[in-house]
Amino acid sequence: MNNLTNKRILLGVSGSIAAYKSPDIVRRLQDLGAEVRVIITTGGREFVSELSLQTISKNKVHDNLWDKEAELAMGHIELAKWADAVIIAPASANTIARLCHGKADDLLSTVILATNASVLIAPSMNQQMFASKAIKENLKILNNRGVVTINPGFGEQACGDVGEGRLAEPEEIAKQVANMFSDSALSGRKVLITIGGTIEAIDPVRYISNHSSGKMGMALAHACIQAGAETTLIIGSISVEIEKRAEVIYITSANEMFNAVMKKIENQDLFISCAAVADFRPTKISHNKIKKDGKLAVIELTKNKDILESVCKLKNKPVCIGFAAETENFLANARAKLKNKKCDAIILNDISNSDIGLNSDENEVHFISQEKTEKIDKSSKQIIAEKIIKKVTKYFF
Ligand code: CTP
Repeated sequence: MNNLTNKRILLGVSGSIAAYKSPDIVRRLQDLGAEVRVIITTGGREFVSELSLQTISKNKVHDNLWDKEAELAMGHIELAKWADAVIIAPASANTIARLCHGKADDLLSTVILATNASVLIAPSMNQQMFASKAIKENLKILNNRGVVTINPGFGEQACGDVGEGRLAEPEEIAKQVANMFSDSALSGRKVLITIGGTIEAIDPVRYISNHSSGKMGMALAHACIQAGAETTLIIGSISVEIEKRAEVIYITSANEMFNAVMKKIENQDLFISCAAVADFRPTKISHNKIKKDGKLAVIELTKNKDILESVCKLKNKPVCIGFAAETENFLANARAKLKNKKCDAIILNDISNSDIGLNSDENEVHFISQEKTEKIDKSSKQIIAEKIIKKVTKYFF
């Protein structure tokens, strides 16, 4: 089956010797039904002719951010909007570094910043360069932003070295692009995700909150959107970029998050409670700044409503997935939460380890349902999110 039928794929060709394979990548994408347009960088032009790419793609090759005529026909913003997916193949070390830094000084980097589409990169470079710490870290940063890497192959390279760094085969690249669109059971479903920490005011300047960054929740949002879900985010205090393709509702306190969730929950198919909701709020919020020479030495707290538990009690509840942030008795505490809140699964997070959990870029979790407990090994939060969504889809949809 052609699973790129009617899909519009933008191929970015950057400066690597493997650029000579890019006309073949265009062909393979077309074989799967895609319409392909090509952007070539200055480096890419050194290794492959624009005429070959134009002839095979049957479209003018885009190469210049400052081309007035091109801007009138299909400018960088139109190109960014046109694409259903952008694949950079080959992605040179320089292009990867520039994407990492959010540069916008040539057409390809600008389009990547301006697009809502999924972005894939297929690195290609000398094996020693690919093994370097800089490349590994840059790829990690991009992966955490939701960019998918198509790993290079192992073998003999143009320079004579043998190792990992050869561009993946054009057929494999086209297959992985097609996989992005493969039908998921979440496709067209409605997903509601709570993300980040809540802020509980003490007075006009002070508050109680927590270290949640929103990274895990935002990674889940990417994964749900990638799976084709109509995704709504209820966002508290976060320090990550917001997924542009989701509907977003901003809240501050746990009470506001509760009200926003209840207003939106009807007709949702999946609820993921990823937020670090404050369990307590100050009983009274002082209208004026509390003075240090005043009498107050103790802040009285009132318990907040448990949002996840309340959703699980609804008559027509969606599939409900909670998180358990634990520092001890990990499995026992998480299983108790699964049982007490009556949710469908709990993702156990060890927050005592600063390498994983709150605020870190990586995580290691256990997926706990009534039937089983499965460990998801340490990885970037984006990869963990994709694995969680795959399990949720497999078990509940
Ligand atoms: N949660 C919620 N509303 C709250 C508190 C927590 O919806 N008022 C949700 C969280 O989003 C998470 C799950 O409940 O999905 C567990 O949160 P966690 O902080 O691990 O545990 P608590 O239920 O708050 O219990 P405790 O703090 O005693 O561990």
